[in-house]
Amino acid sequence: MTISILYVCLGNICRSPAAEALLRQMNERSENPLDLHVESAGLGSWHIGKLPHEDMREAASDRGLSLTGRARQFKPEFFDEFDYILAVDQSVLQELYRAAETPERKAKVGLITEYSNRYRGEDIPDPFYQGRGAFDRVLDMLEDSCEGLLQKLKK
Ligand code: 4NP
Repeated sequence: MTISILYVCLGNICRSPAAEALLRQMNERSENPLDLHVESAGLGSWHIGKLPHEDMREAASDRGLSLTGRARQFKPEFFDEFDYILAVDQSVLQELYRAAETPERKAKVGLITEYSNRYRGEDIPDPFYQGRGAFDRVLDMLEDSCEGLLQKLKK
């Protein structure tokens, strides 16, 4: 059975596209890969159609990850199309909860770091104006969170 996961941030050009690529690659390279369907989206419309932020592409590329998707905006239909809808931080989480409306939809919403061993419950900081080091930090947090999610899904 396919498990579908949607990562959500604000612009869909920094954090969620990186999470999407990381989880996909980690799963493909793992011993017994799961049947996963992974996508990402942003709450805002500012960057629709754009490639991920240049610093994020560079930081990801240094870890052997290629980010090629184009930004798109979260749509309410996604609540019904995905099994897990994971937010980068508390503000995105609260916005998704508000939009979810029903208990069934709310049950799918969670924080990315909920599955992290090292960063459990922390927000993944917005790196947009922060320079290259912030993008590396985001990738560290996402790697640990994706690893934790994969372990949980394999149990
Ligand atoms: P992201 O980063 O949510 O990780 O894609 C951001 C991208 C753009 C903006 C904020 C955060 N923005 O305000 O345009």
